[in-house]
Amino acid sequence: MADVVLKDLNMRFGDTQALSKLDLSIRDGEFVVLLGPTGAGKTTTLRLIAGLERPDSGRIEIGSRNVAGQSPAERDVAFVFQQYSLYPHMTVYENLAFPLRAPVRKLSNDEIDRRVRKIAQMVRIDHKLENRSTRLSGGEMQRVAIGRALVREPSIYLMDEPLSSLDAKLRAELRLELKRIQKDLGSTMLYVTHDQVEAMTMADRIGIVAEGRLLQVGTPREIYGNPASLHVAARLGQPHINLLPADLLPGASPPKGTKTIGARTEHLDIIVGKDANAEVDWIEHLGDQNHLHIRVRDHKLVTLADPYLSIRPGDRINLTLRDPLYFDASGQRLA
Ligand SMILES: Nc1ncnc2c1ncn2[C@@H]1O[C@H](COP(=O)(O)OP(=O)(O)OP(=O)(O)O)[C@@H](O)[C@H]1O
Ligand SMILES: [Mg+2]
Repeated sequence: MADVVLKDLNMRFGDTQALSKLDLSIRDGEFVVLLGPTGAGKTTTLRLIAGLERPDSGRIEIGSRNVAGQSPAERDVAFVFQQYSLYPHMTVYENLAFPLRAPVRKLSNDEIDRRVRKIAQMVRIDHKLENRSTRLSGGEMQRVAIGRALVREPSIYLMDEPLSSLDAKLRAELRLELKRIQKDLGSTMLYVTHDQVEAMTMADRIGIVAEGRLLQVGTPREIYGNPASLHVAARLGQPHINLLPADLLPGASPPKGTKTIGARTEHLDIIVGKDANAEVDWIEHLGDQNHLHIRVRDHKLVTLADPYLSIRPGDRINLTLRDPLYFDASGQRLA
């Protein structure tokens, strides 16, 4: 079993509290994504699990065993680093084969060759196997780094923004591919990113982190639809959730103590030209959809609109709320 349990982890670098009281359990075979902005403590969490760093306090269990005394090699984790580093003097093939050549593995050359070619195909680098690893684009190097982790088939994968330097199309493809590979291998995955689309599409559960703290853990659906706080709500959704004073728009029934209303596209109804309370400022055409920039008194909102909606800048519209999210003065969600 390769479940991972983090208990009350604390980690400080000088004046920076990189992690505070972090508790997280990852089940065997589960895909967990930590989503958070730069400096949130994502890489630190992975380095602690891998054994590259020691926590100031707290406990890390892998497969129900305390790993405090174990070296990185003993922990059977594969780490894809944010700053991926390949062996520069080796070809792509040799980079991928390297982890398999460890004497303890006792793999035959045929078996190594089979695995290297299979993984190279999965990460779409099979046409560059004979290239020196220095003669690759950034995205190709990143794919080799992912491949090098995958060939090992360890019990736990730790991945630190592994798709960040790929173009949008390849990122979308590898997102699906990684998810599929993880399911097929049945391995446990802790994946960190600041890309909300990766988190939403890949995770069994998402953990939202900020300033070294884990704010909420849940399925993508729970985190999106039922955020515990304003901060969590603001991490997901494109365009960004609109934060409005409680009395700005009709249609809401704010509970006592509401300071702020959170309105995403699905919380806003638009009727053109009737009982107008808002004005269209401008429209961004994204092709398959439009971003509508709306002004209500001196507040600005952004919402998605169907590209066929016949509307122009300067048009007056009626804007109402439909089951939005309510937050108190401290940013906590109100039921
Ligand atoms: N070796 C170190 N020495 C000093 N401070 C560090 C060190 N490693 C991390 N930190 C600090 O700890 C905090 C968390 O860093 P971490 O690298 O975990 O963030 P992150 O969430 O991975 O961010 P990013 O998205 O930018 O990679 C940051 O404030 C960072 O500056
Ligand atoms: Mg990082």
